[in-house]
Amino acid sequence: MNILILGSGGREHTFAYQLAKSPLCKNLYVAPGNAGTQAMAKNLAISVNDFEAIRRAVLEHDINMVVVGPEDPLVNGIVDFFQQDSNLKNVMIIGPSAEGALLEGSKERAKEFMSRHKIPTAAYSSFNKETLDAGKEFLETLEPPYVLKADGLAAGKGVLILDSLEEAKQELENMLAHSKFGAASAKVVIEEFLDGIELSVFVLTDGKNYKVLPTAKDYKRIGEGDSGLNTGGMGAISPVPFADEELMQKIESRIVVPTVNGIKEEGIDYKGFIFIGLIKVNNEPYVIEYNVRMGDPETEVVLPRIKTDLVKLLEATYTQELDQMNLELDPRSATTVMVVSGGYPEAYEKGKNISGISDISDSIVFHAGTAMKEGEVVTNGGRVIAVTSLGEDFRKALKKSYQNVAKLSFDRMYYRTDIGFDLS
Ligand code: AMP
Ligand code: GLY
Repeated sequence: MNILILGSGGREHTFAYQLAKSPLCKNLYVAPGNAGTQAMAKNLAISVNDFEAIRRAVLEHDINMVVVGPEDPLVNGIVDFFQQDSNLKNVMIIGPSAEGALLEGSKERAKEFMSRHKIPTAAYSSFNKETLDAGKEFLETLEPPYVLKADGLAAGKGVLILDSLEEAKQELENMLAHSKFGAASAKVVIEEFLDGIELSVFVLTDGKNYKVLPTAKDYKRIGEGDSGLNTGGMGAISPVPFADEELMQKIESRIVVPTVNGIKEEGIDYKGFIFIGLIKVNNEPYVIEYNVRMGDPETEVVLPRIKTDLVKLLEATYTQELDQMNLELDPRSATTVMVVSGGYPEAYEKGKNISGISDISDSIVFHAGTAMKEGEVVTNGGRVIAVTSLGEDFRKALKKSYQNVAKLSFDRMYYRTDIGFDLS
């Protein structure tokens, strides 16, 4: 079949890499893609939010399956757009409807969903401009640190964790009264702070059945020892060593099952990935957030561990026959180290020549922010390349990733040297 992947990061290159392995995949397209996807698929210069252009491309290239990488088009209703179009309604689009995507698109809706289905999460209350004073009073009843979350999508920047009450009140006002995150902070969820270690669990659901995919842990801060600004993710490890059977059973029975059943009971159309951000507090799992897509760079370590044909898995997701599928996993650990442009996550330059990619043979090079310029691969984003390796355990895999990252070079290249530092 002909498959189109929407997106342009390391996540989408990884999807392309896994889907291309399947004998069922005939022609592969990525919109807009990067230099890595260009080498293995046909890139289409279309934005992920230009539904009309996507429609034309699907018809022109006779696309049978669309895999949506990022959350934006999902929250904007791309799945509904396909279903409502007589020419697109039989295309297998992988992702939730706009209603399902609200699990990521609205923190308040996600918290209400968890509360309805008794899914463990931090206690919370939500406020708007009219209830700003009540929000400040609510903050006074809490212990520091204070967790403030913009309700809507804010490009990963909408969560503030503050130590002082005064600062928390001020930021609440900035968000609600002065649109700190634009429309995304018209509502703010104030949450109890949970102190523990984070992990992510990925679930593929067809709306009735589900498969729990490998766990992963990502490293979001720019600096060593988890210091400095938040990024999209500087590296990841799968599986998470502390996610033992006991914890996984709790996660499945208390979180995954009620989430999938909740989606089903509420009649939400959801055929796609659920990325559950969790925090383990005293060996008990709590949900921090839902994302309605795969993570980046988590995908770069999760998908390479899935041995089952990915096209078949996604086809069964669309036809609601996931229960007929057997999920076969590679027992080895996977690690990825993200190489970024100097300055990221703040201002950085693009267009730098990247050397050393072809010297890497025993790791997988997933392109993130790259482009082709005059026949050369150049930097084209903050996160540039993710180097993924497999090994008997995460330390062996990491060693390989780092040996290969050292072969890469471009002006002002940076990466964290301590991915996995907090794991034993
Ligand atoms: P999010 O954008 O929801 O992933 O939140 C960003 C980060 O804030 C998370 O990865 C956590 O590290 C942290 N965080 C979010 N909610 C809480 C909470 N209730 N308690 C402690 N940390 C939190
Ligand atoms: N790595 C975090 C995310 O994809 O949201």
